[in-house]
Amino acid sequence: MTSPYGLTGRAAIVTGASRGIGRAVTEALVRAGARVCVTARDPGGVSQVAEELGAVGLAGSVAEPAHLRALTELTLCEFGRIDVVVNNAATNEPYGPLMDADPDRWREAFTVNVEAPLRLVQCAWRAWMGEHGGAVVNVCTEGATHVGPNVGAYGTSKAALLHLTQQLAGELAPKVRVNSVSPGLVRTEMARFVWERGEDEVAAGLPLGRIGEPEDIARAVVWLASDAAEWITGADLLVDGGTRVRAAHTATAYAVHERLRSQAPPDADSSAY
Ligand SMILES: NC(=O)c1ccc[n+]([C@@H]2O[C@H](COP(=O)([O-])OP(=O)(O)OC[C@H]3O[C@@H](n4cnc5c(N)ncnc54)[C@H](OP(=O)(O)O)[C@@H]3O)[C@@H](O)[C@H]2O)c1
Repeated sequence: MTSPYGLTGRAAIVTGASRGIGRAVTEALVRAGARVCVTARDPGGVSQVAEELGAVGLAGSVAEPAHLRALTELTLCEFGRIDVVVNNAATNEPYGPLMDADPDRWREAFTVNVEAPLRLVQCAWRAWMGEHGGAVVNVCTEGATHVGPNVGAYGTSKAALLHLTQQLAGELAPKVRVNSVSPGLVRTEMARFVWERGEDEVAAGLPLGRIGEPEDIARAVVWLASDAAEWITGADLLVDGGTRVRAAHTATAYAVHERLRSQAPPDADSSAY
């Protein structure tokens, strides 16, 4: 059966695909007929997702330029083409006030969240897309356009990714479309410290009454990557359950910001804030 998304026979690279949103994106791309090459740092996670979803995988960090080149080469070698790049891997560290942020860890956030997406698009452009065309989807965040407690490094780097998306969209048109998807709070490991305690309270403050599931984001990513979005480039698709419009819906305080103030990711240096 031909996929309604027109992705049959296309080849995609998805970063940060061993769990959460990246895994759901991989699953949705495969279901839409695409062949997918996945990456993440943990080799066990990469081989598991590759095996379970029928993808190929290469473990490594997107912070390593050599890994991004190897990923591009593997995709070309396996599939003979690279039609879609989904830049999904990210870090939300360093967490805490910016005055306490270690500049080396700040730089690391930009390496993973901004520099790696640019490098991977450069690789794919030079190897295939520049001649044959394609689509890039960068996974950003609902929080990229405003400030929030303790997420200064994450928010600043994601704001840069949003800008990078638009800049590349202009530079790579008409061959390659470049868009982003900005999720609100989604049930994944990265955001567990925000949603796990008191999920009902967070959900009640959202106009659509629940937090996001990885599949909510995956559907948007696949749609933007597909021919159904052929006249869309430089766009940011907000998939946030109404987070941005909550002020017109409820007068209660924003529970996510309350959580960001009072909780921290498990790896965060608690002495820093
Ligand atoms: N969850 C939310 O509420 C939310 C909200 C807004 C935006 N987002 C965005 O959604 C995207 C996916 O996040 P998620 O929530 O799905 O997180 P997640 O469940 O923690 O998954 C993150 C994935 O990225 C991989 N990864 C992390 N650092 C990497 C690196 N340096 N190189 C290669 N892979 C790396 C992880 O595997 P390894 O650890 O094995 O590397 C994992 O596969 C991110 O861009 C995030 O900023 C999430």
